[in-house]
Amino acid sequence: MRCLGNNLNLNVNEISVSYNDNGPDDAPVLIFVHGFPFNKSMWKMQVRALKENYRVIAYDIRGHGNTESGKEKFSIELFAGDLIALMDKLEIDRAILCGLSMGGYIALTAVENYPERFDALVLSDTQCIADSANAKEKRLKTIEIIKEKGINNYAATSIKNLFAPDSFNTKKNEIENVREMIVKTSPQSVCNTLLALTERKETCSSLKNINIPVLVMAGKEDKIIPVDAAMLIHENIKDSLLRIIAHAGHVANIENPEAFNFNLVKFVDLVSKKAFCLSDTDGN
Ligand code: MLT
Repeated sequence: MRCLGNNLNLNVNEISVSYNDNGPDDAPVLIFVHGFPFNKSMWKMQVRALKENYRVIAYDIRGHGNTESGKEKFSIELFAGDLIALMDKLEIDRAILCGLSMGGYIALTAVENYPERFDALVLSDTQCIADSANAKEKRLKTIEIIKEKGINNYAATSIKNLFAPDSFNTKKNEIENVREMIVKTSPQSVCNTLLALTERKETCSSLKNINIPVLVMAGKEDKIIPVDAAMLIHENIKDSLLRIIAHAGHVANIENPEAFNFNLVKFVDLVSKKAFCLSDTDGN
């Protein structure tokens, strides 16, 4: 029997996974995968916009939010495997998947390995390339700094890059919520995930095999993963739409939820009515 509500728990792959499950029983299912090092609460505004017409699931990735870390070495493949195991436990055969940044890496890996489980994909502020040598080195350095100076210092430094300049004046509460998500993640988890990110594989070469509708979004002022990365994904997926979100940096869904939700709702409505057709979609 389905449990409805927030902060529910299920044992998946030998860890307790925390998730929110809202919306009608028989509606199309949407699953949200958060970025690093955030948690499921980052999707609040999207859940609110969709839960009347969709079954909306947002969960905490292993080691984030209220989900346990378990004993296995973190990797994007492990996270993607957890997602599939969670779908199995919830008896969800197929879903529309939406991932932001690291959530996008997980979504692309899940679609690459389990294409039959997904009806459509929404990718936001993410990329398909692996880390360059320079990016890997930066992450390893960050691990050292976290060990030395702690998570509060890490949060303060990352916040500077996460948001568009305007957001520091207009989105103060949202920025504080993001800071809280970061500092609530254990330093060990942050370091383990940073390592997993350095080791992740590229997914660009398998984009051509994706044959479900895809919406690619990117914050216009994303300093962490620039818009070019979204363009590359868009150019390599046949049935994909690209939407650049104004007044947003790396967390477009939080910085400009109106534009993000407008595009998201329109896309999932078309997909769920099986009416998605690239030539019929107009801009935002
Ligand atoms: C994220 O928001 O998930 C991270 O910025 C991803 C990354 O650092 O590659």
